[in-house]
Amino acid sequence: MKYQILLSLCLSLFLAVPSATQKYACDPTLSATSKFVFCNTSLSYPDRAKDLVSRLTLREKVQQLVSGSSGISRLGVPAYEWWSEALHGVSNVGPGTRFNATVPGATSFPAVILSAATFNESLWYKMGQVVSTEARAMYNTGLAGLTYWSPNVNVFRDPRWGRGQETPGEDPLVVSQYSVNYVKGLQEIGDQGGNATAGSKLKVSSCCKHYTAYDLDNWKGVDRFHFDAKVTKQDLEDTYQPPFKSCVLEGHVSSVMCSYNRVNGIPTCADPDLLKGIVRDQWGLDGYIVSDCDSIEVYYKSINYTATPEDAVALALKAGLNMNCGVYLGRYTANAVKLKKVEESVVDQALIYNYIVLLRLGFFDGNPKLLPLGNLGPADVCTNDHRTLALDAAKQGIVLLYNNGILPLSRNSTQNFAIIGPNANATTVMISNYAGIPCGYTSPLQGLQKYVPAIKYEPGCSNVKCGDESLIEAAAKVAAASNISVVVVGLDQSIEAEGLDRENLTLPGFQEKLVRQVTNATNGRVILIVMSAGPIDISFAQNLSKIGGILWVGYPGQDGGDAIAQVIFGDYNPGGRSPFTWYPQQYSDQVPMSDMNMRANTSTNFPGRTYRFYTGKSLYEFGHGLSYSVFTKFIKSAPLTIVIKKISTPNTHNILFANSNIQQNHVSKGQAIDISTINCQNLTFDIVIGVRNCGWRDGSHVVLVFWKPPSSADVTGAPIMQLVGFEKTEVTKGKTGFVTVKVDVCKRLSLVDSEGKRKLVTGQHCFLVGSPSERQVKHYLNVRLAKDGKSDVGQVSL
Ligand SMILES: *[C@@H]1O[C@H](CO)[C@@H](O)[C@H](O)[C@H]1NC(C)=O
Ligand SMILES: *[C@@H]1O[C@H](CO)[C@@H](O)[C@H](O)[C@H]1NC(C)=O
Ligand SMILES: *[C@@H]1O[C@H](CO)[C@@H](O)[C@H](O)[C@H]1NC(C)=O
Ligand SMILES: *[C@@H]1O[C@H](CO)[C@@H](O)[C@H](O)[C@H]1NC(C)=O
Ligand SMILES: *[C@@H]1O[C@H](CO)[C@@H](O)[C@H](O)[C@H]1NC(C)=O
Ligand SMILES: *[C@@H]1O[C@H](CO)[C@@H](O)[C@H](O)[C@H]1NC(C)=O
Ligand SMILES: *[C@@H]1O[C@H](CO)[C@@H](O)[C@H](O)[C@H]1NC(C)=O
Ligand SMILES: *[C@@H]1O[C@H](CO)[C@@H](O)[C@H](O)[C@H]1NC(C)=O
Ligand SMILES: *[C@@H]1O[C@H](CO)[C@@H](O)[C@H](O)[C@H]1NC(C)=O
Ligand SMILES: *[C@@H]1O[C@H](CO)[C@@H](O)[C@H](O)[C@H]1NC(C)=O
Ligand SMILES: *[C@@H]1O[C@H](CO)[C@@H](O)[C@H](O)[C@H]1NC(C)=O
Ligand SMILES: *[C@@H]1O[C@H](CO)[C@@H](O)[C@H](O)[C@H]1NC(C)=O
Repeated sequence: MKYQILLSLCLSLFLAVPSATQKYACDPTLSATSKFVFCNTSLSYPDRAKDLVSRLTLREKVQQLVSGSSGISRLGVPAYEWWSEALHGVSNVGPGTRFNATVPGATSFPAVILSAATFNESLWYKMGQVVSTEARAMYNTGLAGLTYWSPNVNVFRDPRWGRGQETPGEDPLVVSQYSVNYVKGLQEIGDQGGNATAGSKLKVSSCCKHYTAYDLDNWKGVDRFHFDAKVTKQDLEDTYQPPFKSCVLEGHVSSVMCSYNRVNGIPTCADPDLLKGIVRDQWGLDGYIVSDCDSIEVYYKSINYTATPEDAVALALKAGLNMNCGVYLGRYTANAVKLKKVEESVVDQALIYNYIVLLRLGFFDGNPKLLPLGNLGPADVCTNDHRTLALDAAKQGIVLLYNNGILPLSRNSTQNFAIIGPNANATTVMISNYAGIPCGYTSPLQGLQKYVPAIKYEPGCSNVKCGDESLIEAAAKVAAASNISVVVVGLDQSIEAEGLDRENLTLPGFQEKLVRQVTNATNGRVILIVMSAGPIDISFAQNLSKIGGILWVGYPGQDGGDAIAQVIFGDYNPGGRSPFTWYPQQYSDQVPMSDMNMRANTSTNFPGRTYRFYTGKSLYEFGHGLSYSVFTKFIKSAPLTIVIKKISTPNTHNILFANSNIQQNHVSKGQAIDISTINCQNLTFDIVIGVRNCGWRDGSHVVLVFWKPPSSADVTGAPIMQLVGFEKTEVTKGKTGFVTVKVDVCKRLSLVDSEGKRKLVTGQHCFLVGSPSERQVKHYLNVRLAKDGKSDVGQVSL
């Protein structure tokens, strides 16, 4: 009896006093801690954050500045692991998230590079929603965190980059739009009330990384830890920064991660202009800035950027870094404060930014199971709907690069059918990097088996590196007896990966030989499938007449094999577009990866980068992608003239869409006007485009609107052309659909000069509707400057 009383006393004491293993903060059943001001949900986030920080000793504070934050048990604040990843599905790459038998896997979407190829913004948003639902479900189950360091919004600048797979491709607008949609899908609570605009509640917290000009991992001895990216103001403004800017301003992302590299001599995580100046003050990030793991240690140790570790942490904190993936801030900040290298108030401010994000996530609102999203659990992970969306993303992304008419195959042509190649039975390869454990796999072989149960399979190479040719003969033999040979070649993480850039653009090892031998051996037809993130020079295959079709399938996610099979047999009509340029092999001989310049330079034989600046020949251009149907396009409506007014002009209703017969302007063409002097408000217009499906199949069509700027003596280095809008639409056979592309004049039609300033050039702006490999529809728009406030006022007239 006595014992029992003692035991229950101990138990109640144990319950009343917060313990180190406690799961959540501000437990209302713990009277000792739930009364704290920081637990009071009727107060503002900043007030609650300040209250919490005010209760901490310096020693306690510094332990909360690192990803493995220790928590403060005396205040009932549990330890929290900040590092989780959700690039294309909840991942167990970060220590904050794991799987076990209760949640054995999560939906694994295609690598981002393939999802980007869908050019479907609503899909990107829905993917974010699915991932955040599964993340919350796993958080409620005690398996995951709330802060996800995804997406990767670096522009895929060089085809050799090992992390190109993580990105939405080479175009800054596509990267921006992908990021905004995915971030919103992750963060917005949606029908649970509120959205993720500044200051509101978060479903999970997203992070745009790696800020900035980080897109070299390890190339010919140049690695990301030592690399100093020399970037011009012009390239920074119109290539490297736009995705980050959009993430913060339009996506309202709650975190930005600085990278490992230096930009023009300064490590990004130690650069007050880049962090405090731009992300915090100019863009107004409502969230925290986190380092890559462990960027501070990297610039201290790899490049001896500072004399002591204390100097290194002081520099980072003063530059505007708030959170350290790694250990350095935890280890050296207290001493740095004591040595007066950084003031304690800087530490406090960093913590406040961090805590506000946790507060917005409900971390200090008590039992997560009782919160609005608390009902989510294991049953909400890997649901049929989620798996279907992952499959849909793969189907929508797959790009039909070439078709001589053989595709789609009739369901009848399944006799003597073979699948060959090192990626023919790929599973883990399909889920790319930063993956978790998927709900399941359907390999290409398994996908095709559903159509062709008797399909024959020969790998041809023992792996993607294909270092020996011993298996080629068997593959050629199978092909010789086959009407159809599907050959799945490509890359995997042994060739393109984090920490591993390619040195060339060719198929690794004997893979080309495999394709040639198989093609030579067969009397039937070959369908070539390229499973890779980055482009591969497959021009040899374009010359092999038995190759009837070529598909690029990226890394297509958990059920990628179903997507491939459905496309091959026409159960899905492909409509994906390449999110990057397919360079010839010689590009990698000609262009050092470490050269960050985007613009071509004839004096150094530098051909430029990406479709916007590359002057050489490509195998397939950015935006290329065929369909089983035929689409034609026409302009339904678009303005012919826009008259621009300066801010100083009295009439603020200042944009005129007018007929071209308005009298010619006195202003000479090619005048470059600084957009800061123009009233840019509401300076937008619509281009309405008709899309007619003239073929025999229903299908979806991506409408790409490119802009060819007028030339101006005042701005050099203008892009050859540049995407200013895109829209995907479904059109049934025989029907015409319409898409509206909205163009913001100052944002989209301005050129960046060598000082990084945006200029609007007067004169004729040309729009090309369609990718360069389609028949492009042209539209000309005359941009003029009003003479004064009154003279040109007129009606909108299209
Ligand atoms: C929370 O703060 C509000 C506003 O200051 C106050 O009225 C309320 O009493 C506080 N609640 C608790 C439990 O302290
Ligand atoms: C999985 O982990 C969670 C959180 O720790 C735990 O509650 C659950 O019991 C675990 N499931 C199994 C089957 O071990
Ligand atoms: C999101 O919230 C902001 C601020 O409350 C509001 O202006 C905006 O309209 C909301 N957006 C949506 C899509 O609900
Ligand atoms: C950094 O300093 C260490 C120790 O002084 C030295 O061995 C190393 O070579 C230096 N590294 C660089 C990149 O300067
Ligand atoms: C496939 O075979 C069926 C039955 O043999 C036939 O009716 C059909 O027309 C064939 N379809 C094609 C596309 O050849
Ligand atoms: C497959 O090939 C065989 C022999 O090469 C031929 O008889 C048959 O008609 C072919 N089948 C189809 C569906 O093309
Ligand atoms: C295909 O891969 C799966 C999963 O790794 C494996 O179980 C299966 O045996 C492979 N199939 C063949 C024919 O090798
Ligand atoms: C191409 O690069 C890979 C590494 O990315 C290397 O293994 C291979 O040997 C290279 N091939 C040629 C022909 O240079
Ligand atoms: C193509 O196949 C024929 C026999 O079918 C063989 O004689 C020839 O050497 C092969 N050519 C190549 C390039 O493999
Ligand atoms: C393809 O064929 C053309 C002419 O037939 C030739 O000029 C070119 O070199 C060939 N390309 C490759 C990669 O074999
Ligand atoms: C801009 O457009 C919005 C919405 O159409 C309108 O409410 C606002 O008055 C416009 N502002 C100006 C300066 O024309
Ligand atoms: C975009 O993706 C969504 C989600 O998968 C899908 O419902 C929609 O049909 C797609 N839009 C087009 C135009 O294909």
